[in-house]
Amino acid sequence: MNISIIGTGYVGLVSGVGLAQKGHDVICIDKDRGKVDSINSAVPPIFERGLEPILGRLVDDDKLTATTDTVEAVKKTDITFICVGTPSSSDGSIDTSFLESATKDLSQGLIGKKSYHVVCVKSTVVPGTTENIVLPILEDAGLELGKDFGLGMNPEFLREGVALDDFMMPDRIVIGGGDQKTKEILAKVYEGFDSPIMLTAIKSAEMIKYASNSLLATKISYANEISRMCEKVGIDVYEVMDGVGMDHRINRDFLDAGVGFGGSCFPKDLKALVNFSRSIGINPRILESVIKVNERQPIHAVNLLEDMVGRLSGKKIAILGLAFKGETDDVRESRAIPMARELLRRGAKIVGYDPKASDNFLKEVENMEFADSVEDALTGSEGCIIQTDWDEFKSLTEPDFLVMRTPNVLDGRRVLDSDDFSQVRYRTIGR
Ligand code: UGA
Repeated sequence: MNISIIGTGYVGLVSGVGLAQKGHDVICIDKDRGKVDSINSAVPPIFERGLEPILGRLVDDDKLTATTDTVEAVKKTDITFICVGTPSSSDGSIDTSFLESATKDLSQGLIGKKSYHVVCVKSTVVPGTTENIVLPILEDAGLELGKDFGLGMNPEFLREGVALDDFMMPDRIVIGGGDQKTKEILAKVYEGFDSPIMLTAIKSAEMIKYASNSLLATKISYANEISRMCEKVGIDVYEVMDGVGMDHRINRDFLDAGVGFGGSCFPKDLKALVNFSRSIGINPRILESVIKVNERQPIHAVNLLEDMVGRLSGKKIAILGLAFKGETDDVRESRAIPMARELLRRGAKIVGYDPKASDNFLKEVENMEFADSVEDALTGSEGCIIQTDWDEFKSLTEPDFLVMRTPNVLDGRRVLDSDDFSQVRYRTIGR
């Protein structure tokens, strides 16, 4: 099939590469000429493991091209996926301005187009957005639903770092469609996938995305709340969650206690769902608590470190890991941000190290230093917090920490094992 994709961020580019790998002809669209040129020269504008060689092959084989010209790309294709960002507004609601402008551009490509076209939203949007915002823009352009175009919503469940695998082997494919014809066309896009396809209403598809992310975030905050009790009474929360997770109705995933969840999705989606819930007169008590527990965890980590180090004022403290999780350079809503601010507030001198994310972190927190290696960060410091579960940190051993002035290590992601240390003072969250 001929498919165009508006937006070449994580979701758009990974979806484009995945669909082209499955044999479709894909045109990626972005307003940013730099990103378009980069894709056409087979260099992904985002860091995602394994993407570059595959993109290279697809570009060489002409299965995937990129352009800044939305109208031309829409005219040449039968389906357009909208994959633009829906960032948080100051009140937590989603900002749909990119979605609106992408739909306007798209509508210009549909005017005068002879064949039926499916417009499918992939961006994360609160229930009602596709029908209340996207549809009227297309209709205002003189296009007729059911005759000129069909409307769909197909949420993504990609995790950064393993996004391509998640795209190629999803647990499920959710397709919301306004009518049967649209659902069938969208189901055909995923014909070669070995995953169950769920056909549903557009609004349900929109809600499935939020309900999934919120439940995963709830599991994490739940594990963190239990971990606080475990710390007080000498229980290891990881052992507890291993036992809890053996119940197949619960499962062990997303029950790792630590410094909390960050990233471009969970915090933003929770805020948006809270805002949506309030807007329809429902007080979202669970979701509000999930956010509160998460905001507390990085501060709790600083408290634990202060217990070990003593007053933090004037002391050099290293933060190992600035990305919101391992294997990504993404620092959006990283727990390192509130953690660093709290350390600074208590007068510490902080030095951060990350294998990939330091450049992105530069503008997040002022008055901190950056190191080029773990050794640089640790040398002379009086305490360190491991904030990201990078593989590089999992292989650290006692001698690596002995360059510290006082080797106090707070492991915020359970990447190390306390049994391996005799001279290092090691503490971890939830034990
Ligand atoms: C998340 C979801 O997992 C994807 O399914 C979804 O498609 C995506 O959001 C999105 O909406 O686009 P992602 O943000 O890439 O994916 O990251 P996750 O791997 O889910 O991790 C999120 C955060 O939770 C990280 O900060 C991670 O360290 C933390 N986490 C995760 C925990 O603290 N404990 C856990 O047990 C698991």
